[in-house]
Amino acid sequence: MKLTAAVRAGRKYPKATSQELSSGFSPTVHLKDVIYSIRIALASELDKVEREAIYVLTEANMRDMAVQSSTGWDPSQKKKELFHQHSRFVIIYRIPEDVQSDSSTSHTLVDHIVAFAMFRFEAERGEDIIYCYELQLWPSVRRSGLGRFIMNTLVQLGAKYNMKRVKLTVLKANTPALAFYHAIGFTLDPTSPDYVDEQDPVPEECDYQILSKGI
Ligand SMILES: CC(C)(COP(=O)(O)OP(=O)(O)OC[C@H]1O[C@@H](n2cnc3c(N)ncnc32)[C@H](O)[C@@H]1OP(=O)(O)O)[C@@H](O)C(=O)NCCC(=O)NCCS
Repeated sequence: MKLTAAVRAGRKYPKATSQELSSGFSPTVHLKDVIYSIRIALASELDKVEREAIYVLTEANMRDMAVQSSTGWDPSQKKKELFHQHSRFVIIYRIPEDVQSDSSTSHTLVDHIVAFAMFRFEAERGEDIIYCYELQLWPSVRRSGLGRFIMNTLVQLGAKYNMKRVKLTVLKANTPALAFYHAIGFTLDPTSPDYVDEQDPVPEECDYQILSKGI
């Protein structure tokens, strides 16, 4: 039987363990004199406290914008999407300074989640892709290259599993995020409702865009 790309993606990629996903990646990154700890995890591996921290960060950043958009904001729907069995996470923890200087202390007990991306391996129009559903940073850690670092990690994960592009949805009202994605090389994807070409010369009215970057 010929497997479609969707079946292949459904069968193979979601089964990669977090150890397999993480292999080849450094567990820390040093940006602007701060050491961040990186964890790649499956939704099923997150405990209650981590799930809550991830939801609270998402809500703090997105709720107000979402309620004014066509997507709206439904907490239980958002939690279902975030922690779906196919969701994978790149989670960034900031290691407090007193712990950084004391190598004898395990940092795991005092870690703080400062940023994360949630992504899934998917197939669209016969193409294997990484879909980035969320990229969220607390304001205190923005503009230090962390967003770029996380998106580069998704590109590298995509390369490792032979994905063809990284794709995401962004609200048009979210102008800082649009500026960020353009700065790191994302462009309007042909599946975006407002993408215009010879075959589809009339853009569809909508309040979001689909962007992508080839791998
Ligand atoms: C958008 C977001 C992820 C960017 O992350 P970040 O770590 O601050 O971005 P970086 O520091 O890696 O920025 C890389 C480049 O993107 C551009 N950029 C980033 N933030 C920008 C902003 N607010 N305005 C304009 N350009 C911006 C800049 O060119 C920047 O390079 P520079 O700092 O050398 O000028 C972060 O601001 C965020 O979490 N925002 C709230 C949540 C959100 O909107 N997520 C996206 C949902 S689709």
